[in-house]
Amino acid sequence: MDFNLTEEQLMIQQAARDFAVAELLPGVIERDDKELFPFEQIKKMGELGFLGMMVDPKYGGGGMDTISYVLAMEEISKVDASASVVMSVNNSLVCWGLEKFGNEEQKQKYLTVLATGEKLGAFCLSEPEAGSDATSQRTTAFDKGDYYLLNGTKNWITNGGNADIYLVIAQTYPEKGHHGINAFIVEKGMPGFDIGPKEHKMGIRGSDTHSLMFNDVKVPKENRIGEDGFGFKFAMKTLAGGRIGIASQALGIASGAYERALQYSKERKAFGKLISQHQAIAFKLADMKTNIDAARHLIMKAAWDKDMNQDYNLSGAMAKYFAAEMAMKVTTEAVQVHGGYGYVKEYHVERMMRDAKITQIYEGTSEIQQIVISRTILAD
Ligand code: CAA
Repeated sequence: MDFNLTEEQLMIQQAARDFAVAELLPGVIERDDKELFPFEQIKKMGELGFLGMMVDPKYGGGGMDTISYVLAMEEISKVDASASVVMSVNNSLVCWGLEKFGNEEQKQKYLTVLATGEKLGAFCLSEPEAGSDATSQRTTAFDKGDYYLLNGTKNWITNGGNADIYLVIAQTYPEKGHHGINAFIVEKGMPGFDIGPKEHKMGIRGSDTHSLMFNDVKVPKENRIGEDGFGFKFAMKTLAGGRIGIASQALGIASGAYERALQYSKERKAFGKLISQHQAIAFKLADMKTNIDAARHLIMKAAWDKDMNQDYNLSGAMAKYFAAEMAMKVTTEAVQVHGGYGYVKEYHVERMMRDAKITQIYEGTSEIQQIVISRTILAD
């Protein structure tokens, strides 16, 4: 078993680290405070190839493996989780879903511009009454011959306002339940498609989250992804990979907070010595490091499974579940190590603690991951 990264993987990791420190760190506190989307930085991430990392170069992507992608996600997330969720959704949900299940015309028309970051994508599954219970889609897309007529509301959509291309899940045959669901490519500006107000969130405040309203939107027939009725499977298969990306986001947030806590513990003195010399702090750091590395191993295993074309539903869910829970604990401890300084914005860790929380919620809550894991092991 070889735990070493290849030269190419190390280069990608270093490039992401350099970019995060040079371009994302300046202004990250202000963007969080004022809820500013990192437009310039996302544009540069596209130019550097971070928005379509795993896409085949013939569609404008980087042709990289999943391991490289999670390494880059970790580095970007260490510094700015708002930027990394944009990256994660575009790479793992939108580009991957289109490349894997779209037809050649759809790939030429949409994937090429998404992979280069020229346009941004959004993945639209959640609804006011269908978050965890994703089969209960109320948005409808009825077959009208040349087009589908799309009606309904989607909630909490990442990149909701700034995306150009939306993958929308909707019910075509309500009597068939989840077997009647389809996935569609919807473009911003289609008549009847409106973007609701921006959500004001606890964390990842630089990212752009909206509800979306579809009112008699005519979606061309050729914009359906896959066979008629494939939409729920499309969403589940796409999310299974997305969870590896969010696990690496959680890992990055935790690593960023840990590195800051470690550094601070070697500078701050209390009771006549550095706080790192107090076991109360040293043991916290030991626990943080151990849990971060445990999450990293689960994530690498899931990414490797995906790269080896092995099933990654279970390993991805375990990685996401563990990493998200770990990130919440580690960031909370990082605030604790910083004491009063940890509670103010200048020291970054309070933002990381707020950002960590969303990793327990989106792309399937921790409880959804427990469902996926327990069903798999009990089915064996
Ligand atoms: N791959 C392929 N098919 C899958 C699958 C997978 N990973 N998981 C489930 N399915 C299939 C099942 O095989 C089943 O198909 P059949 O009926 O043909 O056998 C079908 O999907 C329904 O599955 P279940 O019977 O298990 O459905 P369920 O309702 O009991 O539960 C669930 C499924 C796993 C709980 C699912 O609803 C789920 O994952 N919910 C969470 C949704 C979620 O993650 N939302 C995140 C929103 S996107 C987001 O957050 C993006 C962002 O902005 C950052």
